Order: sequence, then structure tokens, then C-alpha cells
Amino acid sequence: MIIKDYFSKYSSKINHLDLELLISCAIRKPREFVLAHPEKSVSKEQRTMINKLIRRRLKHEPIAYILGQKEFYGLNFKVNKHTLIPRPETEHLVDAVISNLQLVNSKKTTIVDIGTGSGNIIISLAKNLWTSNVPNGHSMSFFGVDISQKALIVAKHNAKKHNVDKKIKFIRSNLLDYFIKNKNCYMFHASCSMIIVANLPYLSKKIYSSSMPNVKKFEPRSALLSGIEGLDHYEKLFKQLHKLEIGNWKLEIFLEISPEQKSKIAKLIKKYFPNANIEFQKDLAQKWRVAIVEI
Ligand SMILES: C[S@@+](CC[C@H](N)C(=O)[O-])C[C@H]1O[C@@H](n2cnc3c(N)ncnc32)[C@H](O)[C@@H]1O
Repeated sequence: MIIKDYFSKYSSKINHLDLELLISCAIRKPREFVLAHPEKSVSKEQRTMINKLIRRRLKHEPIAYILGQKEFYGLNFKVNKHTLIPRPETEHLVDAVISNLQLVNSKKTTIVDIGTGSGNIIISLAKNLWTSNVPNGHSMSFFGVDISQKALIVAKHNAKKHNVDKKIKFIRSNLLDYFIKNKNCYMFHASCSMIIVANLPYLSKKIYSSSMPNVKKFEPRSALLSGIEGLDHYEKLFKQLHKLEIGNWKLEIFLEISPEQKSKIAKLIKKYFPNANIEFQKDLAQKWRVAIVEI
């Protein structure tokens, strides 16, 4: 068989780009090679591998899980069945943190990514902020938190791959439990600002049930679903933050939301933080996607 035969045989069932990627992965050559050499014959071993990958795709397994990787914010991340596949709209959350960051007035900034999954958000932030102009005497620390130990293994692998493993501390914790239990180690005071960034599970039961079969069948339910209205995780997070007694230190929260949750989440924030400033931003598809809360 030659490469072109796979395109003739499967082009009605698998999209062209996916086929290119599967073949390139199976024969261990770049995608450009697959495109440039359609007449190239494939060995028996390579055929077995291509057929195996194609079978997985025909069963609707997401291409990112088959390839074991996904691009996010210009970086390549390892993913597996224990981590959500990073979505392009989440890049807006990273942009929002970077463009709102003010390092001038405080001496220490701590950024905590809650529900880190593959580590895509905190690694993108560490890569972009560490090298940017941090004022003299200002220190920054980065944390990635997840309840899933298996997701944290992937996040640590990605941090190492992108050379930020010494800059980010990964912690297994149910939301902020770890920080609440170790409050004394994280002395929050007036010269300190804390940024919480979270893309926690936020799908309502109704939206989760109607999501694409490949999402429901392959991606971890615990990374997507959050109670009947999709707000259980965020409400618990607000309760915990309330407990932390914010006092004089500066706290900003950046949340990814589902577009229809805008007014419900605003109400919830006001319930716990009546004086909070709340701003909502839309993603590239013009859907409400990010809530920025200043407390
Ligand atoms: C929507 S995924 C986001 C993953 C990644 N940050 C991203 O943007 O692609 C939510 C993540 O939150 C984690 N999670 C769920 N419940 C949690 C909890 N109670 N405490 C900490 N992490 C939690 C899940 O394991 C999952 O990795």
C-alpha cells in the first residue's frame, strides 16, 4: 500500500488533516512528509500501526488523545485520558491574566491555577510572565492544583518539557483546601497579591448530556460536569476564598465560564463578595467566556 491509498479509502470517513496526522504519527515522519510523498509505500509494521490509529479515530476517539498531544498558546502539551483536551477558547483566559497583571505596587504575586489538568494554563503563564519585565525586588510564584493525581503527573511532565518545572509547584488538593490548611506558610499581607485562575468543571447537567459523543465517551466527566447548574465548583471555591479572610491583600480571580452562566455567576460572586468588581469578556466566537473578579 502507498500513502495515497489511505486517503482514497478513508477520505469520506476521516477528515483530511486528521488522516495526515495519524499517518505521520504512525510512520514517525512530519506531516509535510506525508503531504509531499503520497506515492511512498508503507512497510508492514507501519500498516499495522496506521490501521490501529485509524480504527481508534473511526470510533470517534479525539485526535488529541490518539496522538497524545495538543497545541495550546503556541506550546505543545502532552494529554491523555486523565486530562481534558485544552480548548482554544481557554487561551483567552491566559490572555486576560497577562494583560491585567499589574506588578508595580506589590512585592509578591502568587498565581494559583485551580483545576490545572495538563497544566496548560499555568505553564503558559509561567513561560510568558517569568521572562517578562518583573520589577526589581518583585517575586512571583506559580501553583498548579488538581484533585486528580493522574492529571498532575501529566502536568508535571509538561512543566519539565517546557522548562518551567522549577518555577511551578503542583499540588493535589480539593480546590483551595491545601492553602487553607497551610495558611501560615502562605502569609498573605498587604504587599502581596494573589491571582486565582480557574477553568474548573462548569457544564450543567443539561449541557453535559447534550455534548458530543466523543466528549462524553472519552474526556473525564470529573473535568466537565459541575452539578445541575454547572456552578457547584465555582460556588465551593467562593466559599473557600471567603474563609481565607482576605483583609489587606489584593485578590483577583479569573474564571472561564459557560456563556449562559453570566448573570447567575455574577449573583453568586455578589453573594460572597458584595463589594467585588466584576468584568465579563467574550471569546473570539463572541460568547461570554471569562469573568474577572477583583476583591
Ligand atoms: C475543565 S478541566 C480544565 C483543565 C485545564 N485547566 C484546561 O484548561 O484545559 C477541570 C479540571 O479541574 C479538575 N478538578 C475537578 N474538581 C476539582 C476539585 N474539586 N479540586 C481541584 N481540581 C478539580 C479536574 O480534574 C480537571 O483537571
